[in-house]
Amino acid sequence: PDLQSAGSVKQQIAKLFEESLRTTVPDEGDVEPAIAPCQNPKFGDYQCNNAMGLWSRVKGKGTQFKGPQLVGQAIMNNLPPSEMIESCTIAGPGFVNIILSKHWIAKSIQKMLVHTIETWASEIPVKRAVVDFSSPNIAKEMHVGNLRSTIIGDTLARMLEFSKVEVLRRNHVGDWGTQFGMLIEYLFEKFPSGEVSGDQAIGDLQAFYKASKQRFDSDPAFKERAQRAVVSLQGGEEKYRKAWAEICEISRRGYESVYQRLGVQLEEKGESFYNPYIPRVVELLNEKGLIEESEGARVIFIKGKKIPLIVVKKDGGYNYASTDLAALWYRLYEEKAEWIIYVTDVGQREHFEMVFTAAKQAGWLPAEDNKYPKASHVGFGLVLGEDGKRFRTRSTETVKLVDLLDEAKNRCREALVQRGKSEEWTAEELDKTAEAVGYGAVKYADLKNNRSTNYTFSFDQMLNDKGNTAVYLLYAHARICSIIRRSGKDIEELKKIGTMELDHPDERVLGLHLLQFLEIVEEACTNLLPNILCEYLYNLSEDFTRFYTNCQVVGSAEETSRLLLCEATAIVMRKCFYLLGITPVYKI
Ligand code: ARG
Repeated sequence: PDLQSAGSVKQQIAKLFEESLRTTVPDEGDVEPAIAPCQNPKFGDYQCNNAMGLWSRVKGKGTQFKGPQLVGQAIMNNLPPSEMIESCTIAGPGFVNIILSKHWIAKSIQKMLVHTIETWASEIPVKRAVVDFSSPNIAKEMHVGNLRSTIIGDTLARMLEFSKVEVLRRNHVGDWGTQFGMLIEYLFEKFPSGEVSGDQAIGDLQAFYKASKQRFDSDPAFKERAQRAVVSLQGGEEKYRKAWAEICEISRRGYESVYQRLGVQLEEKGESFYNPYIPRVVELLNEKGLIEESEGARVIFIKGKKIPLIVVKKDGGYNYASTDLAALWYRLYEEKAEWIIYVTDVGQREHFEMVFTAAKQAGWLPAEDNKYPKASHVGFGLVLGEDGKRFRTRSTETVKLVDLLDEAKNRCREALVQRGKSEEWTAEELDKTAEAVGYGAVKYADLKNNRSTNYTFSFDQMLNDKGNTAVYLLYAHARICSIIRRSGKDIEELKKIGTMELDHPDERVLGLHLLQFLEIVEEACTNLLPNILCEYLYNLSEDFTRFYTNCQVVGSAEETSRLLLCEATAIVMRKCFYLLGITPVYKI
């Protein structure tokens, strides 16, 4: 059966207070409960902050209450009985501090153990979303910026999917535009027979791009031919189309191998896909009276911006913005997406602000940002090298992605060999583990920071097995698995017959933290901030360590209960790894 989740802890508390508020202030209509985790765990787990606000609403109306504290008191007294709450107290001007029942916490965890963690999925009020991410430009090597977009976008897609949203994962590759004239012309020049012979013909696409650019910049005759080639390509001339497709295909093979390594699913719908829609979309915008002439171009003036958005260039051609307007239209009206999310560096913020405002002016999107359909730009900062400058390697301008991934994996393998694992494990186990840890480290180092800040790429830091790194977290998970294995108990059987008690304070802290998984995913999802989930995961493993240090598991009187707590921790950790695109390891 499709088990409905009971909602987050916060939501479940809110439901109780909703009822109490109705009884406490019946004349105030539906009052939304203000529930938040307690800042200081000494006072309780959660608190209800409605009293002060309500007091200022009712005090002029001849109320029975004689101050906010008494409003809080009444809210507390009017709570319906519930097994969830152990006790409440009033603090300051009417805050209701809530202590949850440890039996209820234990029972909720046990329910999850029986019915799987899918019952802890949050619910986002959206049926279908587009996540536009990765989106490299053809013929240019993928760089670390594309890597950030790929990693962040994949995580956001995973979190939305877990929240039961259908996600269209879109690779908006730069496969259209004037640079193709130059590339095609250069291809013809190198292969005058007209027969393009795949990989070998172009070899290193990046070098090919550079060489053709050089030619374009230095030879006016070539430049003119290149410009004419653009027209031929856009006119759909067979020979040009074929060359274009060939160049795209070679590029595609390159980035697809990166996606495969990273375990990222993406569907390519590049700029060229939306090209045929542009004239109609421009016409639609024109009918709404949004398009004006300005210095020979057709533009949209955007509220609050000095410079207009150019929709049709002076020469009649289209640009990045025209494509994005057509793509937005397509996603809203053809694909019927309610939330459209774009993951690029913060440098493109202005561009997306303008496109989104244009869409609001056209009535495609509601003016209010808290309503759906909605478009969101997820901007991220630069990747810096350890010298604090833009990330580069000595030999090349940009860093090749595959080299980065190789290095992370190789360093992990070396560390494992040094720990004697090559004697203990099969070659395949060694390889798989090195890959999981190495790629996981690269992803986690990126995701754990607030995405809008720059982040420093450092192998030494990300591969450290202490501190807030994937290596540390993956090992913590493997250790939990080994505790369960070493107990010799059948954990699946224990899930059915065992009971969990959370009598030790460190057990209770860990249990409550587990239960908060749902509201954390929801928060990370609604705010499009994967670092919230990383922080949760790191704190979870800290809470586990404290528990494990202070509570004996195997061989203790509480063994069954504590093994179940171990198992629940491992399950939640694995779900976090999954949502972050990290492959768990089970032994170290
Ligand atoms: N290709 C672009 C770049 O590398 C990113 C595309 C982002 N998506 C979009 N719909 N504009 O900068």
